[in-house]
Amino acid sequence: MDSWRNRVFCEDALEGLARLPGESIDLLIADPPYGLGKDYGNDSDKLDAGPYLDWMTRWVDLALPKLKRRGSLYIFLTWRHSPEVFVMLKQRMTMLNEIIWDRRVPSMGGSTRKYSSVHDTIGFFAKARDYHFDLDAVRVPYDAATKKARSRSIFVGAKWLEMGYNPKDVWSVSRLHREHRERADHPTQKPLEIIERMIKASCPPGGVVLDPFMGSGTTAVAARLLGRDFTGFEMNPDYCRLIDERLKALAAAAPGTGSAADAATCESEQDQ
Ligand SMILES: C[S@@+](CC[C@H](N)C(=O)[O-])C[C@H]1O[C@@H](n2cnc3c(N)ncnc32)[C@H](O)[C@@H]1O
Repeated sequence: MDSWRNRVFCEDALEGLARLPGESIDLLIADPPYGLGKDYGNDSDKLDAGPYLDWMTRWVDLALPKLKRRGSLYIFLTWRHSPEVFVMLKQRMTMLNEIIWDRRVPSMGGSTRKYSSVHDTIGFFAKARDYHFDLDAVRVPYDAATKKARSRSIFVGAKWLEMGYNPKDVWSVSRLHREHRERADHPTQKPLEIIERMIKASCPPGGVVLDPFMGSGTTAVAARLLGRDFTGFEMNPDYCRLIDERLKALAAAAPGTGSAADAATCESEQDQ
């Protein structure tokens, strides 16, 4: 087993990425700081627009050579910087979708001089035309009412009715509020449902997912739950401990999924 598989390295991604072998990654899921000034226990989210784009470009240029030819990238952003980041990525990859994550924010208060922003923007990009995409793995089942409405004889036995419909580019998934059962101690933890959909569609079983900005380790957990491997980086040692805890809890709850949790999963730079 490669020493970087099923490990999250507690270090700056821009240093760690260089160590990964070329064309070894099936799927890149990146949830970088959005450039909005959030406190991740470091200054990573405090760059102005120009330096932010420079930094994005630097890690993208380190990460893309690690992607296999049929690999793809999902990147979480907001409207503030997605236009310029998408332009930069379109010079390197093919853009497939702009996915809107509707965070299902309840209608209370909000902006008074403009519209309240309640979505994140996710860019979906591929390296090559024949990128891996398993549509059947992410079809959305029809609800009972729709199935009933399609009960006329011409629809009986229709494969598409049983298999579900093709997912659309607006994903309505509740953000993880404080009491949510998945919630760990990280300010911008993403829901497993979203990351799982990306992995099912875009990483073959047994493949490897790279997340350069692991945060609470959602990508690592989702990968293990779905029988994929992971690798990645997180710069804040407290979050590295959190990732370890999440993977250990997963291994205890579902033996076999968290094989990585038996070993150290979040290693400091000095340990290597
Ligand atoms: C938006 S959060 C990721 C949240 C994650 N997707 C989750 O579900 O928990 C971004 C994370 O990137 C980390 N980070 C920022 N710059 C980094 C860098 N250069 N290398 C590694 N991690 C970094 C931050 O500490 C923060 O935890």
